[in-house]
Amino acid sequence: MTSANTLLAELELIGRDPSTGGYHRPAWGAATLELREWFAGAAAARGLELSEDGNGNQFARWGSGPGALLIGSHLDSVPDGGPLDGPLGVTSAFAALDSLRADGFVPARPVVVANFSDEEGARFGVACLGSRLATGAITPASALALRDDTGTTLAEAMTQAGRDPRAAGPAAWLAEVSEFVELHVEQGRSLIHQDAAVGVASAIWPHGRWRLEVCGQGNHAGATLMADRHDPMLTYAATVLAARRVAIESGQRATFGKLAVHPGSTNSIPSRVDAWLDARAESEAELERLVAAILNQARRAADLDGTTVSLQPESITAGVTFDPGLRHRLATRLGAPLLPTGAGHDAGILSARMPTAMLFVRNPTGVSHAPSESAEPDDIDAGVAALALAIRELA
Ligand code: GLV
Ligand code: MN
Ligand code: MN
Repeated sequence: MTSANTLLAELELIGRDPSTGGYHRPAWGAATLELREWFAGAAAARGLELSEDGNGNQFARWGSGPGALLIGSHLDSVPDGGPLDGPLGVTSAFAALDSLRADGFVPARPVVVANFSDEEGARFGVACLGSRLATGAITPASALALRDDTGTTLAEAMTQAGRDPRAAGPAAWLAEVSEFVELHVEQGRSLIHQDAAVGVASAIWPHGRWRLEVCGQGNHAGATLMADRHDPMLTYAATVLAARRVAIESGQRATFGKLAVHPGSTNSIPSRVDAWLDARAESEAELERLVAAILNQARRAADLDGTTVSLQPESITAGVTFDPGLRHRLATRLGAPLLPTGAGHDAGILSARMPTAMLFVRNPTGVSHAPSESAEPDDIDAGVAALALAIRELA
């Protein structure tokens, strides 16, 4: 029987940048391939049946027959991410199975541990690609044509990893699964305020990603009068400030976290700036209003600067209310508080196809998507105990 803390320690060096302590585990990169090997080894060590669908989602099955209970999460990370966003859910799933088996528990239906492929969307721009492809929320043609920053398509990346991209798309396993419970580190501080080690998710806010393109005129940084410039960086900067103001005024969230400046020269006025907006809101109508207001402000700035702007959606995810019966049952059984989240998850994508629930483990700082993301070892053990109890309750 292995604790989740011990299993997490096995992953400690995979994809870690020693200079920051953060993790770089992009989909289909060397680190995630190593993590897939680790997952296969964890399945083998427990005598679980290993499988992988055409989208790269990995499964380790305990028991046979229909109506499986799916647990698990993902092993990829955002650039310079923390150790827990994803891996906590996968390691806790194996640890929960271990503790149930040690207690002699035999499930009445199969329990399957999942490692969903490319949850973060850090490489190809669309989050939850593995679960979106499996559920048909994105077509294989549009997913496989997505490109990373070096121009490599998802199809090429899968081929390089020895997979056949023609197998991508709706997955047969969906018909054999009845529920999904994903355990995740909390990305916020609600559980601290509620003095609870574990919580149950109530909902996920609607969210999305948009690409802002600002075009101007490249020119000499020293020889061009300030009045003669058409600088897309200025338009971009004004848009970032406007996004912050609009989000604060409406109580929503807007972030520019990725930027590409062309040509990227210290002594040149840029000709173009590409930037990615991540926006999240409590309702779809609020999200639409938020993004429209940001675009409106970007256009006003562009008029002043003599530049042009466009804003293209790259992925939009509807809000999710987790299955009321399931979340109530788990919250009552675990004595755990219910909390909403602004973060996206595979459980949100799968909720369109089956009852899903999420367990959150307290995060002492609330920081996530950054190297300092953490959870206390005791809270991790409490999360595993909660997941084991949920499995007993459901399977
Ligand atoms: C995934 O963690 C997301 O919310 O972007
Ligand atoms: Mn994440
Ligand atoms: Mn995650």
